[in-house]
Amino acid sequence: MTCLCVPVLVLAACAVPVTGHKTTGLLGDDHQQRKIRTTSGTRGKVVSARVRMSGMDGGRGRREQEAAGRGGRAPAGGVGMWALAASNLASLAYLLHQHYRPRAGAGGSVPRTGTGSDDANGDAPAPPPPEPAVTPDAVIDLELGDPTMYEAFWREAGSRAEVVIPGWWGMSYFSDAGRLCQFLEPELEREVRRVHRLVGNAAVDDGYHLVVGNGATQLFQAAMYALSPAGADRPVGVVSAAPYYSSYPPQTDLLLSGYYRWAGDANALDVDGANNNDGHIELVCSPNNPDGAVREAALSGGKAVHDLVYYWPQYTPITGAAAHDVMLFTMSKITGHAGSRLGWALVRDRDVAKKMVYFLGRSSIGVSKDSQLRAAKILAVVSDAYDGEDETRLRLFDFARRRMAERWGRLRAAVAASGAFSLPEETTGYCNFTRQTVAAYPAFAWLRCEREGVEDCAEFLRGHRIVARGGEQFGGEARCARVNMLDRDRVFDVLIQRISSL
Ligand SMILES: Cc1ncc(COP(=O)(O)O)c(C=O)c1O
Repeated sequence: MTCLCVPVLVLAACAVPVTGHKTTGLLGDDHQQRKIRTTSGTRGKVVSARVRMSGMDGGRGRREQEAAGRGGRAPAGGVGMWALAASNLASLAYLLHQHYRPRAGAGGSVPRTGTGSDDANGDAPAPPPPEPAVTPDAVIDLELGDPTMYEAFWREAGSRAEVVIPGWWGMSYFSDAGRLCQFLEPELEREVRRVHRLVGNAAVDDGYHLVVGNGATQLFQAAMYALSPAGADRPVGVVSAAPYYSSYPPQTDLLLSGYYRWAGDANALDVDGANNNDGHIELVCSPNNPDGAVREAALSGGKAVHDLVYYWPQYTPITGAAAHDVMLFTMSKITGHAGSRLGWALVRDRDVAKKMVYFLGRSSIGVSKDSQLRAAKILAVVSDAYDGEDETRLRLFDFARRRMAERWGRLRAAVAASGAFSLPEETTGYCNFTRQTVAAYPAFAWLRCEREGVEDCAEFLRGHRIVARGGEQFGGEARCARVNMLDRDRVFDVLIQRISSL
């Protein structure tokens, strides 16, 4: 931080009387943040942003100087001003020279993230580490939905997707205390709405409120809290049609809430079409984790949370703009940035959105601004690539669709060759985003063991050094198991070799 700030501080210190110096006002902060945040992350651009900041400080300094001058502390006449300006310029030139001297092994002057490589100042960041090696006999862990497949894309994107965060930035709990979601960064909101408009997968402009959360995981709990009736004499039941996302039951019952409790398979309530909804909250995951099925709510007339984290063109045809009451999305599945722990909900009803914000405030006092800033940048890179006619730019959805198509082709061939498993049928549909009829490529393979005598598919796979999640955890059969399709290429290659050899 120090090197780049020194010229600014020298200017400010010279121009502003010490006793007259104030911390920046709210409006000024916001303006400065905007300039910093729009830099693309190269050192030179950050420097120029800081120079602009120093200009602003200088402006305020001059005003204060005039005021102070009336009080007799600032240099009074034109000669004094010129002398001051000359001394400032000399200090600036000296310090810039110091700063731009190549320094072996010096770290950046501001915390920097990412894998950029085009640093012109001699402080090139370390190159990204190589992908971890996978030995042919390694145990491959495909139990979780870790989306490391996307790393290859973001390595390629390099400094374009880099974010530099000055030490002073984002310190308040709030982003805009006057808004419904006080901790939502405006840049993130803009980029989230933009990417939905680009893809056409959610009716984001139809009066929806945006609520940001620590991943879809926290938002799903906030939604259950917000949808539970106040003052009920027993917790409302939370259901989802089996096979359902295996985290729904433990997340619902983690704190044994007095408002809501896990109540199992939604289909079990719909006996003979009777639709015994009874005020349940239904979790509708579409495309579904674990089996990739496109789903509607199983119960009618009740409250539903639509978990649409996989409703992106790399996984499924985009058939229309979803417009449900509560819709969940996450960086983890659109761009692969699971580590940022950032998700968002589109919420139709203002009161429900407010209750969700209350929950998020109580449980974590909002969401990391650093993560929001990074997510905004990542989403901007995604959308920018589709703006305009330049098809040579790295396009995330194209990259991921190609990878998924190739992986599913290889998996289906390996499964067919082994005869040990079956997979859900491939489905196709017209995708409004790609303007083609395309196949669905789910983020998980829902394998069913067809081999005689094998009752537990996860155990069978474990015997072949493949860790998968057993079907019973999804409210399904033990003969099924879920395998992550989003791991790195090398891991996926080993998976295919193993399955082919069974
Ligand atoms: C259906 C579904 N919803 C939510 C999540 C969690 O998303 P996040 O990483 O944003 O908490 C996952 C993660 O695998 C998921 O599969």
